[in-house]
Amino acid sequence: MINKKTEQKFLLVGNWKANPETQKAAQKLFRAVVKPVSLLKRVETVICPPTIYLGLLENDVVNRNCVLGAQTVSSFGAGSHTGSTTVPMLFDSKVRYVLVGHSEERAAGVTIEDIQTRISHILQYPLSPIICVGEVVRDSKNVFLKKFREEVKKILSGIPVEHISRVIFAYEPIWAIGETAPRPATPEECAQMVGIIRQSIRDQFPELEELPRVIYGASVSLETVKGFVEEGQVDGLLPGRASLDAKQFVSIARTLEKLKK
Ligand code: PGA
Repeated sequence: MINKKTEQKFLLVGNWKANPETQKAAQKLFRAVVKPVSLLKRVETVICPPTIYLGLLENDVVNRNCVLGAQTVSSFGAGSHTGSTTVPMLFDSKVRYVLVGHSEERAAGVTIEDIQTRISHILQYPLSPIICVGEVVRDSKNVFLKKFREEVKKILSGIPVEHISRVIFAYEPIWAIGETAPRPATPEECAQMVGIIRQSIRDQFPELEELPRVIYGASVSLETVKGFVEEGQVDGLLPGRASLDAKQFVSIARTLEKLKK
């Protein structure tokens, strides 16, 4: 599913979270984004709307350059699991990427074991998990670095080598997410954590010639795109709030299109 061409592209993932409030508004936002970003050659765009809008929007997916993603998936398979949406259901709704372990879900009780289970369910289908990892706070003794390494290692230990190229890691520093965050991470902070993720992948899979993609999310805006790509060393971005503003989101995509990878 993922060929060399896809890997060379930047990945831009819009996480709409619990927005907007009506089908009409969701369709309007999606349509305002999908056409302009589909024209880009070096950016693959993924829109993650609330699950309930996936079926509505699948008809507006015009080409493989802009596809649907899901914000979450159940840890269970089919059966007696009230309120759950499974991987085959997402796949059938044209979803191709699934966010796993976003911090807002972890705060609501999603565990590392849930995350591992979800990844293994996702990898049974031609889908890519976008695994969100990031520290809650930074401490002066660098305990957060040790914890971060351990978590990435634990997640990687459950991924078979034949699936690793499909996996995407999103470095999402929790302290930098949302409108109450004091600031985004700096490109240097981003490069350090992205470096740890890439090194952990190399340690786990020394035979890999090409590493899977690593992206950044947390208070991404048009102003920060260049810094995260050039100094932050990322393969793409995962904006939340900025994905709800079609104009800004399309500008972010166009800025990525012009940057070197
Ligand atoms: P934000 O959200 O861009 O609104 O900070 C990012 C995220 O939570 O993925």
